[in-house]
Amino acid sequence: MPLAELARVVSGCVGSKGLDVHALGAGDGKSETRLVQYLCDRRQVVDLRLCLLDISPPLVHAAYRHAADAVEPRGVACFALVGNFLDLRRIPVLSYRPACSPRERLYTMLGCTWQNLTDGPAFLRQLGDVANAGDLLALDVRLARAPAGDVAAITAAEPVVTQGPPPSCHEWLSGPIRRYCEGYQAITFRAELLPRGLVPGSYEINLLADVTMRPGRGERRTYTVIRGKSYDPAQLATALEPLGWRTLQSWPYGLGERPDHGLVLLQRM
Ligand SMILES: C[S@@+](CC[C@H](N)C(=O)[O-])C[C@H]1O[C@@H](n2cnc3c(N)ncnc32)[C@H](O)[C@@H]1O
Repeated sequence: MPLAELARVVSGCVGSKGLDVHALGAGDGKSETRLVQYLCDRRQVVDLRLCLLDISPPLVHAAYRHAADAVEPRGVACFALVGNFLDLRRIPVLSYRPACSPRERLYTMLGCTWQNLTDGPAFLRQLGDVANAGDLLALDVRLARAPAGDVAAITAAEPVVTQGPPPSCHEWLSGPIRRYCEGYQAITFRAELLPRGLVPGSYEINLLADVTMRPGRGERRTYTVIRGKSYDPAQLATALEPLGWRTLQSWPYGLGERPDHGLVLLQRM
């Protein structure tokens, strides 16, 4: 992930002011901590604070320990909160900024978290309500490999649509079902393609688990185990402007020959 490039542009926007990095859905916090390390390396932003938010208490715990060990020695104040990023108004430290504050804010949603939301644009509208003009937002998204709406092209470009998830992922994908779905007997996986998403140029591939239950526990259940949207960067930028988020820069990245992800830096207008 081009976090060093992101840090360079964020540093340029923030200058010598203080910066609060609000990591939404921080998970284990490793990417977010790496970003803050790059910000420290640039030595431009003088006063950094990192606040890690996740809905999972064990992940918040792990993220805090990792971040505090790595960046507190470099003078970064770290905080960690268990909470729901869909309800930021209830978390004043992430949503309220005193009018006199000279600090800048960078929200991050890394690890493709935004594309997992049921309604990504609604989330950005809600984040826009608590953000101030000039606040920054870093989103990490999967890039579309074919034009939205073209089922044949998407199916050709995305083997998972016909083949389902690879067997090597089955154990991982079935973990929550094995732990929490009492009475399950057998689990099979398949993919579902929604050729057009809410954002123009996007499509959605969901991974579904069909669960056969033991006799007497209900016949069959279907769970969505992964929701994955893919975006066209130019159409994404156009769609986010009316929501009050201007794209400052985006960096395609990935391991293959062709970048399959994009890191996007937005600014609240
Ligand atoms: C795909 S992971 C990304 C983790 C990390 N940012 C990374 O880059 O590896 C998404 C994270 O968001 C958290 N999450 C999901 N829904 C959430 C919610 N409503 N509020 C807060 N955290 C949430 C999950 O617990 C998970 O750790």
